[in-house]
Amino acid sequence: MTKTYARILGTGSFLPERHLTNADLAKRVNTNNEWIVERTGIRERRLSENGTAAMAAEAAQQALADAEISAEELDLVIAATSTPDYAFPGVACQVQAAIGANRAFCFDLAAACSGFLYALSTAAAYIESGIARKILVIGADAMSKITNWEDRGTCILFGDGAGAAVLTAASTGLMAFDLGTSGLDGGSLTCPFGTEPEELPYIHMDGRRVFQFAVRTVPETIRRVLAEASWEKDEVRYYFLHQANARILASVARTLQIPEKKMPMNIAYCGNTSAASIPILLDEWNRAGRISPGDKLVLAGFGAGLTWGAAALEWKRKKTAGKGIVRGIEPEKQNR
Ligand code: UT7
Repeated sequence: MTKTYARILGTGSFLPERHLTNADLAKRVNTNNEWIVERTGIRERRLSENGTAAMAAEAAQQALADAEISAEELDLVIAATSTPDYAFPGVACQVQAAIGANRAFCFDLAAACSGFLYALSTAAAYIESGIARKILVIGADAMSKITNWEDRGTCILFGDGAGAAVLTAASTGLMAFDLGTSGLDGGSLTCPFGTEPEELPYIHMDGRRVFQFAVRTVPETIRRVLAEASWEKDEVRYYFLHQANARILASVARTLQIPEKKMPMNIAYCGNTSAASIPILLDEWNRAGRISPGDKLVLAGFGAGLTWGAAALEWKRKKTAGKGIVRGIEPEKQNR
């Protein structure tokens, strides 16, 4: 009997209109555009005015349209987020109401910046086991809600956004995953619920430790997922990596000896959108007609937990005509 895999049928994404440039930040904290661009690759980030679920619903509508299915066909909606609008109901439940996915059951999943990969793997398990056939997976975060605008070590990095993918059962698709967590290192990136001044619900980060963790762990998880899928690194057309810092991507490319042009980047105009970063990037490349049926793709990310993950994805949906959104900077110019 042939194995069933979860295949991506369509993608969508949403970035809020409101821009916050490096120059804007330099008016609030002791920083400057040159430092931020050189150390991170970020030029601006977007700020949401309507919250996480509203962004998620926009991305979801686009993904459904791209997949050419209706919301009623969905069996399950999973939203990966660390910044829900409410403790409950979850973002996935709010999206269900907004798009009319009346048949679906819905839940949120929190794995910080690795959230989209964890949600994809969860959706794949539901599809492979036959429990659900059509699943909407969303990565959405309004990081601005938990940003301390007086901390120059973190406020320069993060932005708001949402990305989504519709998955269905097929003969190829998400061929392998590698996921891992190191709870013992969790203290290097936290957002406490506490009420003490040092525990305000803001991001607290030891940037150097997270950087070192990322440049060590991301190449390892990519190597493992390639081995699991029995793929050679050069067969892979694109590596869609979590957009945390352009220097992290450059280091991963060097370590694995992968050309940087195989690692798309949009960090310059989004910043780090946490769980949304990989699906936003994937959607932009899909809509720009840059991914073809049969392309082998690797998605990989890391984040608070500390968590990491990678997926080997064979792209089999029909090619998008290339009339899609190109935000801010032309894709050719985004890759350094
Ligand atoms: O999704 C996962 C989330 N997190 C990450 O991926 C973060 C990973 N880490 C990073 O991206 C980097 O560590 C940062 C961008 C956060 C910081 O870059 P860095 O090259 O590691 O800088 P650093 O923390 O080692 O600081 C170097 C210097 C320090 O000054 P001194 O001590 O050398 O005089 C900092 O005080 O740069 C200073 N600095 C800044 N200067 C201007 C730190 N932040 C800023 C700033 N503007 N915003």
